[in-house]
Amino acid sequence: MTTLFAAATVAVRSSGLSLSSLSLSSLSVLPRLSSSSSSSKISPFASMSTSPSNPASAAPPPLVFSPAQRVSGFGDSVFAEFTALAIAHSAVNLGQGFPDFAAPDFVKQAGAKHIVESNLNQYVRSMGHVKLVNTLARHYAPADRHNNPSINPMTDIVVTAGATEGMFATFQAILNPGDEVILMEPFYDAYPAQITMAGGVPRYVPLRLKAAEARNGTSDDWYLDLAEFRAAFTSKTKAIVLNNPHNPLGKVFRRDELEAIAQVVCEKNVIAISDEVYEHLVFNDAPNRHIPLSTLPGMLERTIKLGSAGKTFSVTGWKVGWVVAPAPIARAIFLAHQWIPFCVAAPFQEAVADALEHADKSGFFDEFQVALCKKRDRLMDGLKQGGLPGILPHGGYFVLADTSSIWPKLQRDLQSGDANPSQPHDYTVCKQLTKSVGVVPIPPSSFFTPQHQPSVKDLARFAFCKEDRVIDEACRRLQAFGAKK
Ligand SMILES: Cc1ncc(COP(=O)(O)O)c(C=O)c1O
Repeated sequence: MTTLFAAATVAVRSSGLSLSSLSLSSLSVLPRLSSSSSSSKISPFASMSTSPSNPASAAPPPLVFSPAQRVSGFGDSVFAEFTALAIAHSAVNLGQGFPDFAAPDFVKQAGAKHIVESNLNQYVRSMGHVKLVNTLARHYAPADRHNNPSINPMTDIVVTAGATEGMFATFQAILNPGDEVILMEPFYDAYPAQITMAGGVPRYVPLRLKAAEARNGTSDDWYLDLAEFRAAFTSKTKAIVLNNPHNPLGKVFRRDELEAIAQVVCEKNVIAISDEVYEHLVFNDAPNRHIPLSTLPGMLERTIKLGSAGKTFSVTGWKVGWVVAPAPIARAIFLAHQWIPFCVAAPFQEAVADALEHADKSGFFDEFQVALCKKRDRLMDGLKQGGLPGILPHGGYFVLADTSSIWPKLQRDLQSGDANPSQPHDYTVCKQLTKSVGVVPIPPSSFFTPQHQPSVKDLARFAFCKEDRVIDEACRRLQAFGAKK
């Protein structure tokens, strides 16, 4: 029944009519409408004209369109802006966080196999393809991974169109208008937009960088001030979001930090949304391995965990993600999800299940972490030689590098209009790096509220999930620019 209904929905959408204007029984007229329109090229809506005496001359009034309020405040994302800039200046793009190298063969082959041989090309279970939810439950069950042998694959997991849709469905499922969600800055830029679209209100707490004399030069130097965290709670707080390992800081939260966060979350009795899409990208020099938030005392019943096959297997374009949560919360998320994509691409779900099984047996996660860490070190070295020392990230895809010593030289190239006083300083620096050097980073202020943007004014975010030759070319350009008189 659900599948039939979903098929009917597709027919309605492609006809240009809105679902709300039709009852299900009226769907049977659609084929006739569309075939007459294609053969005679007469609009199927002609008979609905308000001027029956002379339908041909009754030009409809021009559409006056204004976007819905929930989207009218959104602009293009910083990634769109900097990708366009990269193209315009033929710059090496270390901006957006997607791998430019090929996904592992066992992953690609599984995808191809399930499209071509298994012919798994139809709708599947909305909450998640059975094989994938079973595999995810097994993957997360061992004590060293999730310490959560009680995951029920049929009730505690929702497979989503990437973690992004998982997050969207989560906010739709848990927020009532006016409910507040605490975000840590810098934040993944989808969170605030998704919270406001669900009628919620984001509240912000910055992660702060230790004072220079207390730093060790790694992502561990970023910390959450617990007093500030506590102060952000109000009677309307419904949830907090933790991103661990963190984008863009590369911070892998230590157990003591997670315990402190968990204690406050339990005391305030709210939900914790734990974005763990980089869980398998934790390097050997991190203070500890990734610790899932749900494994801390009191957290299992209140944690919504998000994962991503895109990050795990370097297939960001597949958009397969998942939510793992206690059954009643997962059910609410499913209720939203069934009306967003209904279900996620079937062959890719089956392929991700195969890939997880293979990776768990073959030691892929350790190998990939080592390979990615080499890229991190390559970029860190090259940036340092180019005069942009980085803060060593312990996980994820990104290095935040200090641009203060290269800025005076960049400044010399500024032309009128390049520095917009209404934009944060790191924005100007990143744009100028693109124009003068031919290397594109992303300004980290895009992931902060205006109040806290100055804290990253001398930093730029560079992605190292790139081919070695791309990293090398970026570093060569930076070094050549640094060597210029
Ligand atoms: C912190 C974080 N969460 C979620 C996502 C999105 O994951 P997906 O591609 O699975 O939607 C990203 C992608 O960059 C991310 O950095």
